[in-house]
Amino acid sequence: MKLSPAIVFLAACAYLSPSANALPFKRNAKDGEDEAGVAEAVIDYEEVLEIRLPSSFEKLGGSYRNEIVENFFGGTGDAFSDDLLEVIDHLANERHDFLIDTRRNLHRHPEVMYNEHDTSAYIQKTLKAMDIKFTTGWAVNTHPDRIPGKGGYGIVADIGTHRADEPCIILRADMDALPILEKTQGIDGFKSENEGEMHACGHDAHTTMLLGAASILKEMEDSINGTVRLMFQPAEEGGAGAKRMIEEGLLTTDPKPVQAFGMHVWPSIPSGTIATRPGTILAAAEMFEILVSGVGGHAAMPHLTIDPIVTASSIVMNLQTLIARTLSPLESGVVSVTKFEAGDAFNVIPASALLRGTIRALTTETLLSLRDRVEHVVTATANTHGCNVTITYSADYYPPTVNDPTLFEEFSKDVGAMLSKDGKLLDIVPTMGGEDFGFVAEKIPATFFLLGQGTAHTGPPTNYGLHHPHFALDESVLPRGVALHVNLALRALKKLSS
Ligand SMILES: *[C@@H]1O[C@H](CO)[C@@H](O)[C@H](O)[C@H]1NC(C)=O
Ligand SMILES: *[C@@H]1O[C@H](CO)[C@@H](O)[C@H](O)[C@H]1NC(C)=O
Repeated sequence: MKLSPAIVFLAACAYLSPSANALPFKRNAKDGEDEAGVAEAVIDYEEVLEIRLPSSFEKLGGSYRNEIVENFFGGTGDAFSDDLLEVIDHLANERHDFLIDTRRNLHRHPEVMYNEHDTSAYIQKTLKAMDIKFTTGWAVNTHPDRIPGKGGYGIVADIGTHRADEPCIILRADMDALPILEKTQGIDGFKSENEGEMHACGHDAHTTMLLGAASILKEMEDSINGTVRLMFQPAEEGGAGAKRMIEEGLLTTDPKPVQAFGMHVWPSIPSGTIATRPGTILAAAEMFEILVSGVGGHAAMPHLTIDPIVTASSIVMNLQTLIARTLSPLESGVVSVTKFEAGDAFNVIPASALLRGTIRALTTETLLSLRDRVEHVVTATANTHGCNVTITYSADYYPPTVNDPTLFEEFSKDVGAMLSKDGKLLDIVPTMGGEDFGFVAEKIPATFFLLGQGTAHTGPPTNYGLHHPHFALDESVLPRGVALHVNLALRALKKLSS
């Protein structure tokens, strides 16, 4: 896809801007200017992808909706009254075409972490068309030496009163794709056009659902008591984009958010069923790279070499005993070696071998102790074989994603059940996947929901796992995700202000 020069300019500005470390909310500044009056993001919105807005937006016949929401906030009913369910469902379903268009456009243009320029432009264009104010430049890549890309494509938008003395909550969606060659069948017309990149983790759906929620919340803005902060975050797939946004002031800018909600489409759960649990739901995760250096030489004379392939193989095997022999059987952990690269001939013992992999655990303490054990095993094994070894970790390990038990008990479990297909919240065991929503949940009470999508009635099978090259979204769950966001936002604000 063609990149407009304006978008490249945005990227450059976001990176070079001196205020990049403390990106302030520029709500009062003129569009396209930061508080110092410096032009920042100049996007020619006409040049970006075409978008189609929900029809009700053009009609703007929103007065009855506002009345309902006003009654909800003003009335004596509690945060769980049924009042809103129907109208929000209606509004979410009414956005069907908009949701499908948006999701397919995003799906066609996947971009990997810290390179989400077109995705960001698309979101900005949509928000702008909805007359929602936002700031850009969030999630600058602080480790360009380790992860390519300048970053700065995150977007934050506030809907509501924007008053520091009224509650503020966060709704979050991630935006980045994966370096996977798409193999999904039956999606002609919106296949990935960026070869080797794919929305194989549903972030196109997450972004779409948050945009859908934004359009509904904007329609109700006049009667919302408090502020809903929309967090469009880049670099979820290992780039710690959420951590960057927190460092840049996401949680400390007034009005300070006091709760946060996120969700993920989940292929192993039936479509429309919502699942979550109190406490830890997703694992702490770390990535490692191990470079084993030996002495190369002729394959016929191994005694004159120090063979890094044999050493690295030994490392892989020894790492397998870590979980079995050093972790309490009652705790959970994973050490997986996922890449093994060495040599390029039949008859040459290479000089080095490269391993990559991941360590996961349900607590940060276990993760760090496993990391120490990995280091010990790797060094000792390399020593035994006479090789040198260096171990490098990711710039930021992910903490576990922990659902605040009080928020869960007093709020999230009931709202989740209301929106789940059969009126029941599915209880699940934690999974060893990592999620950088964990950085947010570490700072303020939060709930992360899994939205089932594994049993689509049409289109390709939707029960392939996340990150699978055949992964496919059940698009019929998009309105439900939208409704979940809107219900969470309005009901959380109601509960917080009463
Ligand atoms: C909004 O919240 C404020 C307190 O923050 C309260 O005084 C006011 O009555 C609320 N408005 C509605 C419509 O509930
Ligand atoms: C390991 O490192 C030491 C110190 O730099 C060096 O002298 C030695 O040759 C290295 N051995 C291998 C197998 O690379």
